[in-house]
Amino acid sequence: MPNTLDQSYVQRSAWRPDLFAGKVVFITGGAGSICRVQAEALVLLGANAAIIGRNVEKTEAAAKEIATLRPGAKVIGIGAIDVRKVQSLKEAVDKTVQELGRIDFVIAGAAGNFLCDFNHLSSNAFKSIIDIDLLGSFNTVKVTFDQLRKNKGAILFVSATLHYYGVPFQIGVGAAKAGVDALSNALAVELGPLGIRSNTLAPGKIQGTEGMSRLSKASESEAKRTVPLQRLGTTEDIADGTVYLFSPAASYVTGDVLVVDGGNWQVSSGIGANDYPVTLLDAINAPKGGKL
Ligand code: HXC
Repeated sequence: MPNTLDQSYVQRSAWRPDLFAGKVVFITGGAGSICRVQAEALVLLGANAAIIGRNVEKTEAAAKEIATLRPGAKVIGIGAIDVRKVQSLKEAVDKTVQELGRIDFVIAGAAGNFLCDFNHLSSNAFKSIIDIDLLGSFNTVKVTFDQLRKNKGAILFVSATLHYYGVPFQIGVGAAKAGVDALSNALAVELGPLGIRSNTLAPGKIQGTEGMSRLSKASESEAKRTVPLQRLGTTEDIADGTVYLFSPAASYVTGDVLVVDGGNWQVSSGIGANDYPVTLLDAINAPKGGKL
């Protein structure tokens, strides 16, 4: 399965080809694997996009490639932007409005993370993750708020599932993403009366992503063993969830979390997780018990 989308997505997907015609999306972390595919899906379905990132070359190259997906698409890459610095983000917003005319959708996707146990995690390392993932998400909405209000737009935070239970080596990101979910919920309540929706998408194990290669040493067959749907996620699964949440089909959905993980977090650390699904299948396939 490819990690990026091409034109065949428009034919294959359940979505109308011009679903987002006239809309503009502002995406932090848009050159990374998850957020890039979110941008690709929205552009393929008619939107224009601003891709925001720290690395100038990577950000500009991604924007150029995404622009080729649809004739007439306008995709700008704005590099050297750190979501921790609200003023630089504000400049990226000004440039987006100047070049693309407006902002309807905001994806707060920029993230920083690494595996580290509590004993070795410094206060500054913890702060770095909180600053990128949580403060950066706040800053992203802060600077786009005027546009969101004007256009009755929608916000999508990219979160995770690892704060639903205790995950070792992931203290910083777990705490940050719990905060991101709380931020989204509060914004849904505060901004709902303005016609602005705020939701969160929580990816699980998505194959071919930076998160998987950074955080998981497991082979594919090992990684998918504890996923109820018995496969790793694809970037297209993320694209579909993203399109849904921005589409009119979700016009009454706000303050929600869409978990796209094949059901994985439900079994991740529960009793029997080590033997999953062997003990479960043994029980299901065993001869019928006594009473109904
Ligand atoms: C322990 C570490 C460390 C590591 C950095 N630090 N890496 N500590 N183990 N592997 C410490 C440093 O020693 C320093 O603390 C502090 O963190 C800040 O480090 P800097 O390098 O100065 O920070 P900065 O340049 O701002 O870089 C931020 C970063 C970096 C998060 C540390 O990894 C980064 O920029 N990452 C961006 C890309 C990324 O991480 N993407 C992840 C996407 S995946 P001291 O005390 O020495 O000063 C993802 C999935 C989440 O987010 C969900 C999972 C399911």
